[in-house]
Amino acid sequence: MDLRLLEAEALPEERAAIDALLGPPHGGWDGGERVIARDGRALYGGHEVRSQRHLLLPALNAAQSRIGWISEGALNYICTRLSVPPADAYGVATFYALLSTTPRPRRVVHVCEDVACRVAGSDKLIAALNERVGDAGHGAPAGDHVMIGDDDAIWLRSPCLGLCDQAPAAFTQEAGPVAVERLLGNVKVEDVERLLTDPHFGKDEAPVAIPQKGDPSLRLLRRVDVVDPASFDAYRASGGYAALRRAIEIGPDAVLREVNDSKLMGRGGAAFPTGRKWEAVARQPARPHYLICNADESEPGTFKDRVIMAGDPFSLVEAMTIAAYVTGSTHGFIYVRGEYPLPIERLQHAIDTAKRRGMLGANILGAGFDFELEIRKGAGAYICGEETAIFNSIEGYRGEPRSKPPFPVVAGVFGKPTVINNVETFVNVLEILRIGGQAYAKIGTEQSTGPKLYCLSGNVTRPGTYEVPFGITLRELIELAGGVPEGRPIQAVLLGGAAGLFVRPDELDMKMTFEDARAARATLGSGVVMVFDDNVDLLDMLLRVAAFFRDESCGQCVPCRVGTVRQEEALHRMSVGKPIGSMTAEISLIEEIGVAMRDASICGLGQTAYSAVESAIKRLHLFNGATPKSNPPGTPASDPLDAPPSLGAEDPKPQQSEQPKPPQNGARP
Ligand SMILES: Cc1cc2nc3c(=O)[nH]c(=O)nc-3n(C[C@H](O)[C@H](O)[C@H](O)COP(=O)(O)O)c2cc1C
Ligand code: SF4
Ligand code: FES
Repeated sequence: MDLRLLEAEALPEERAAIDALLGPPHGGWDGGERVIARDGRALYGGHEVRSQRHLLLPALNAAQSRIGWISEGALNYICTRLSVPPADAYGVATFYALLSTTPRPRRVVHVCEDVACRVAGSDKLIAALNERVGDAGHGAPAGDHVMIGDDDAIWLRSPCLGLCDQAPAAFTQEAGPVAVERLLGNVKVEDVERLLTDPHFGKDEAPVAIPQKGDPSLRLLRRVDVVDPASFDAYRASGGYAALRRAIEIGPDAVLREVNDSKLMGRGGAAFPTGRKWEAVARQPARPHYLICNADESEPGTFKDRVIMAGDPFSLVEAMTIAAYVTGSTHGFIYVRGEYPLPIERLQHAIDTAKRRGMLGANILGAGFDFELEIRKGAGAYICGEETAIFNSIEGYRGEPRSKPPFPVVAGVFGKPTVINNVETFVNVLEILRIGGQAYAKIGTEQSTGPKLYCLSGNVTRPGTYEVPFGITLRELIELAGGVPEGRPIQAVLLGGAAGLFVRPDELDMKMTFEDARAARATLGSGVVMVFDDNVDLLDMLLRVAAFFRDESCGQCVPCRVGTVRQEEALHRMSVGKPIGSMTAEISLIEEIGVAMRDASICGLGQTAYSAVESAIKRLHLFNGATPKSNPPGTPASDPLDAPPSLGAEDPKPQQSEQPKPPQNGARP
């Protein structure tokens, strides 16, 4: 039995927003008017109501976007509508950073304080905001039953907003009957001040531009900023939907062969063979099969998926339709981070249009297969990019990762066989079908095939998303982005994001392939290449990475929940030259914590939370005077940590958390 102890009533506008999503209530049991003759004793449609739990996050998002926060009344109404206990729903609502269960003004400006934006001066921007406007969150009303003025507004600090190529970035939200959200780049303190008083103030949503625009060698990005992303006909005219037609012509098994021949590896960070994943789901007898596109893209420094979704949304829809055809999936979700309003809008338009044109829905292209596709919007949780955390989030639970096995291909979302792939992985399939799997496998190297997207940010002349075949060196990639402004020397490069690691300037000739990265005890991760010149305070970057993991840990398992806090604390002590014991003792402590997190955490977040820190210590020698710029005043320069750079010789295992484990004893991937 569900106990509902909340008495607060939702405002009419909150009810309307929730009803717009869920439809009108059935009767007295699920939030409607109680008619004794009809629903005095019996709950009709109870199962139907309970089976709607997966709409919990969309309902919370709806309430939040209507008035700017989730009031007790709105939460109560959502719980009644979905038959979810309030304590349970409260646990979900408080999981996500973009949702607020305490009063918050309708207008919020989230200012990025993460690594790439710090390089572009967001720390100064934030300091100026502190001085001129007040601290982050200043002006948010305290207490529960408070009035919030229409013109009230606050700013908040934010982790990476996925706009590192246009740093510093901000994300504005204005709740209301028609909520307005915009992701803005190159913001200045005056812009944020104006946005706090006038949410419609001048600046446009960040443009979707790529530095290689129009380059004839592009395969994945060839339509971006060239073909109208809102036009189905333009997409068709530029070769769109030829791949789906070909897939249907040759049949699912032949498509699978092409994908296997191509040796396509997942681009979400774990580099798992896509064909094996698809095959495993296609062969599962349990039904239905689900297909999920992981578009959460919250790894600091990553923004390539945003560019595809906003710049060529039909390509993702088409690629997912092919994947559904091959794997027998009837329902798909694109899980997009909540800070991506433009990609969401354009994808929704693409889905609606494809449906109208017979490319989604029932009997697609008359080939007798059905596929429904919908968008699920995240709400500010990096961990929801982890594949099993996405399942929980979609199902309406806290976005906490699940233990594996069972693997998603056996029991994924709703306990059913599920394919989950990254945006970039999916769009590669169009190219595979266009040129054939074997021809595709000839691009790049033997083990790392195809084109690859990289996100270049930090101190490069032309930051942005770049497409190159695997095998180019890191140095060549940085040169492609125009090198470091003013020819300054490179101090370090953050490779693979916060979950990746720092590499030194003498490692720039590393080939950008999975195998070369592995050999160098590095990772390509999600394709992040963040360059730091000699002016950057690397210790500040490292502290930010540590803060990011502390903040984003879901807290489910102890090594990660406690370890990320202890790691950050030790780094802080060292940064102010006040180690407990000696610097050596602190470093040993950090290492011990790091190894525990890596070995004993449930998911990749905890397993990689020490990677960048470890590389800063062992590769960059950040704390032994080898990089004096980064050592804050008070750090003993003569600390005995003077071992030569080990290139990670002591690294216990490859950095990337989700290294696919070979199936054992017949276990599936
Ligand atoms: C903490 C964490 C966050 C992740 N975030 C993302 C993400 O935003 N996008 C993504 O595609 N994969 C992300 N992954 C990797 C996914 O779990 C999964 O490996 C990937 O979606 C599989 O797709 P692929 O085979 O196409 O790479 C993340 C993993 C972890 C541990
Ligand atoms: S490792 Fe961290 S993020 Fe992952 S499940 Fe454990 S506590 Fe959560
Ligand atoms: S948008 Fe600020 S670091 Fe990525």
